[in-house]
Amino acid sequence: MRIAAFGVRPSERPYFAKWAAQTGDALDLHPELLTTETVGWAQGAQAVTCFQTVPYVPGVFAGLKAQGITTLALRNTGTDNVDFAAAAQHGVAITNVPAYSPAAIAEFAIADMLYLLRHTGLVQQDLQADRYQQATTHLGRELNSCTVGVVGTGRIGRKLIGLLNGFGAKVLTHDTHDAQLPGLTHTPVPLSQLLAQSDIVSLHVPGTAANHHLIDAAALATMRPGAILINTGRPNLVDTKALVAALASGQLGGAGIDTYENETQDLLALSHRGHFRDPQWQALLAQPNVLLSPHIAYYTQTAVQSMVDTALACLHELADRGTSALLVSGD
Ligand code: NAD
Ligand code: COI
Repeated sequence: MRIAAFGVRPSERPYFAKWAAQTGDALDLHPELLTTETVGWAQGAQAVTCFQTVPYVPGVFAGLKAQGITTLALRNTGTDNVDFAAAAQHGVAITNVPAYSPAAIAEFAIADMLYLLRHTGLVQQDLQADRYQQATTHLGRELNSCTVGVVGTGRIGRKLIGLLNGFGAKVLTHDTHDAQLPGLTHTPVPLSQLLAQSDIVSLHVPGTAANHHLIDAAALATMRPGAILINTGRPNLVDTKALVAALASGQLGGAGIDTYENETQDLLALSHRGHFRDPQWQALLAQPNVLLSPHIAYYTQTAVQSMVDTALACLHELADRGTSALLVSGD
C-alpha cells in the first residue's frame, strides 16, 4: 500500500521505517502539515496519515477527494481540529488513536504537580540570579498530604488516579458519566465541591463546546486559596485571562499549562511572526509559579510508536474491511 504521511517528526521516522520493512508499504514522509497547499503531495497514495493540532480545513478534504483518497488516519487522540462536516461531504473516513499512552499524560501531570508543590521555578530563578540562600527558603508541600481533584475519569484521568493513589494523596473526582473504577480509591463529588476542596485540580476532559471555559473566573474564585491548576486536557478548558488574574491576586498558587488557550492561533501565526508569543503567553511565562509546556504531555517513545503503528494499522483495516473500530465522526 502507498501511504502519504504528513506532520512527520524525526522521532517518528524509525517507527515508520520499521513498519515499511515489516509490511512492504511504500511511505512518503512529509514533515509539513496537511494543508490546502500540501494536500496535492499525496498524489499516487492510496491513503493518508497526519499529525497536527492546527485545523484540517475543508480544502484538505476536497484535495483528498480530487486524488481519489478516502481515508485519513490521525496519529493523535483529539479531533477538535477536524471539520467533520467537510470530511463527510467529500467522503473521507477518519480514524484516530484514542489511547496511545494515557500514562504519558498522567505522568506529565504528576511532574507538573511536584514541580509546583516544591516551588522549583522560584528555586531556579533564585539560583540563576545568584541568590543561593534565598533559594533554600521556598517551603514545599507534599503530594501525599494534598487533596487532588481529577476532572474527567476517562482513560487519562483513571491512570492519574492510580498514580495519585500510589503517592497517598486524597483523590476527589468528577465526571459527567458514572463509571465504576475498580481498584482505584477516590471520592466522586460534584464539580463545585471538587473545586472548593482540592489543593490541586487536574483537567482531563475533552475540548467540546460545552466544556469551553469550564474553568472561568467564577470557577477560579471558588477554588481553595493558593490551589494549583493543571491543564493537560485541551486549550479551551481554561479562561486564560481569568487564570492570569487569579495568579496575580494570589487566589491561585500555581498553574501547569500544557494545552494553552491560544495555541492554535499562535501556531498558525508562527511563520509570519517568527515567534510564539502573545501577551497572555508572556504573562504566564514570566511567572515562576507557572509551568508552561508546548502541548508535549503525550510525547514519549511509547506514545509515538503507538501513534504510528495504530494509525497505519487503521489504514490497512479500512482498505481491507471497509471499516475500523477507531473511526471517528465528531458526534
Ligand atoms: P476520555 O474520552 O477517555 O475521557 C474523558 C472523560 O471526560 C469522559 O469520561 C467524559 O465523560 C468526561 N467528561 C467530559 N466532559 C466532562 C465535564 N464537563 N465534566 C466532567 N467530566 C467530563 O479522554 P482521555 O483519553 O482521558 O483524554 C482526556 C483529554 O486529554 C482529552 O481532551 C484529550 O484530547 C486530551 N489529551 C491531551 C494530550 C496532551 O498531550 N496534552 C494527549 C492526549 C489526550
Ligand atoms: C492528542 O493526541 O490529542 C494530543 O493532545 C497530542 C497532540 C500534540 C496532538
